[in-house]
Amino acid sequence: MSKKGIPHTATVSFVFVFMMFLFSFQSNLSLLSRSNVTSSITKSKPVIVSEEREEQVARSSIQSGIVRGKREEKPELSPSHHSGAVTKAREDMRAPSPSRAEVRNVITCDCSHDYYDMWSINGPTLLDPITSTFFAIGATDSTPPDFTVKFHPYPRKTDENAKSKVNELTLTSAPPKSSCGVTHSSPAIVFSTGGYTGNFYHQFNDVLLALYITVNSLSLNQDVILVVTNWSEWWHETLLDFHALLENTYGPRGGYAPASDRPQIVLVNRRNGVGREILNLKEVLEEIEEVGFKAIVFEPKRDAPVRETYTLLHGCHAMVGVHGAALTHLLFLRAGTVLGEIVPIGADWLAKTYFERPAGVLGLEYMKYKIEINESSLAERYGADDLVLKNPSGFVNGNYSKAKVYMKTQNVKLDIVRFRVYIKEVFVKAQRFMDNEG
Ligand SMILES: *[C@@H]1O[C@H](CO)[C@@H](O)[C@H](O)[C@H]1NC(C)=O
Ligand SMILES: *[C@@H]1O[C@H](CO)[C@@H](O)[C@H](O)[C@H]1NC(C)=O
Ligand SMILES: *[C@@H]1O[C@H](CO)[C@@H](O)[C@H](O)[C@H]1NC(C)=O
Ligand SMILES: *[C@@H]1O[C@H](CO)[C@@H](O)[C@H](O)[C@H]1NC(C)=O
Repeated sequence: MSKKGIPHTATVSFVFVFMMFLFSFQSNLSLLSRSNVTSSITKSKPVIVSEEREEQVARSSIQSGIVRGKREEKPELSPSHHSGAVTKAREDMRAPSPSRAEVRNVITCDCSHDYYDMWSINGPTLLDPITSTFFAIGATDSTPPDFTVKFHPYPRKTDENAKSKVNELTLTSAPPKSSCGVTHSSPAIVFSTGGYTGNFYHQFNDVLLALYITVNSLSLNQDVILVVTNWSEWWHETLLDFHALLENTYGPRGGYAPASDRPQIVLVNRRNGVGREILNLKEVLEEIEEVGFKAIVFEPKRDAPVRETYTLLHGCHAMVGVHGAALTHLLFLRAGTVLGEIVPIGADWLAKTYFERPAGVLGLEYMKYKIEINESSLAERYGADDLVLKNPSGFVNGNYSKAKVYMKTQNVKLDIVRFRVYIKEVFVKAQRFMDNEG
């Protein structure tokens, strides 16, 4: 598949299953119970049908006009309507999946459930996000020409009100009009965060639980790509909700008695050869104290009580560290706290995506310290003019195992003159925060 292509067009090549889920529990709202959840696990197992049955599904779909999106009015696809068809339902996807030759019709549906339909494209698929269309590019001769189905990926297939709040998708065996920009080699699951989400119950019942059970029932033994339609900013707010939940659980009652008259900074430290260590830590700490901070070095431990860590971080006025998983402790900080991220070479995208953006959502004062080439240990190893340092994305060039160079083998030695300018700014903000919030 061509890499250049129409912008915004993504190709998703799926190894063996491409799932479109219209998924629900078979009980209705008030009847959902533990035992019903369990039985829905059984019900949600994908059904692989024989060739003969697959052809029947496709043909009858066309004949019945269900492809025009009226499927819920005409439940012809339930197995009982195909009494003559040979149906080999496999209950376990761990059984070998059928070879390409066996899967003649790549677009199939398990439409036998009352509340959801499960559409699959069994093969490489191209997604055009502009038109919300999935092209089955592995379609074979025996697929009826231009087989097309439209539906709403939400587990309430007869609920018109819910469906009006869900983007309509198209699956087709027609040839795509565009080429791809991005490729993946994993199966994907497509679902919508529209519908009744926003309501706590529906969020769990219609989306999170349904997704959890579905992914597990497929026994794919590999990661899946989640393709979300109707994605909304609203889901972002769950991060804020989670932040609030932590504060309710671990937060102090009745505010803070400042532990010191100086703002406190927590330096999150990486060590023991994990990569991205601060090589001149001692010097850096002296500098931090010099500008007026009370510095605490924090090295996360697996068995540390969460409450203890929470108390330390929730009371501080700044947290600083080199880009790494431990910065996730930003969830423990109060809104307004300074989060200082030291960004090594090759980590810009990660830093922005994993910490800078969430920090914005949580109302933290995010302050980046992007290192210069001469502050990276890679400069000594490769030479400052090497592609590794000059152009990390060119060096990685889509092969992410090469990113290990940056993540595992790079350490930083901060330029103290430069760091001093930075930490002074951090101090000014932290001091202001302490004056206002304690
Ligand atoms: C499960 O759902 C069915 C309806 O589908 C209902 O008749 C039954 O009472 C439910 N079971 C429990 C334990 O609530
Ligand atoms: C989802 O998509 C539908 C149809 O495009 C739209 O009417 C609805 O407002 C969307 N809902 C959300 C939550 O984005
Ligand atoms: C590192 O490089 C920057 C500019 O790229 C320069 O300003 C700084 O003086 C250098 N530091 C050292 C220690 O060589
Ligand atoms: C990706 O990079 C790794 C490590 O440099 C290398 O072993 C592997 O062959 C590369 N893969 C491809 C597809 O180029």
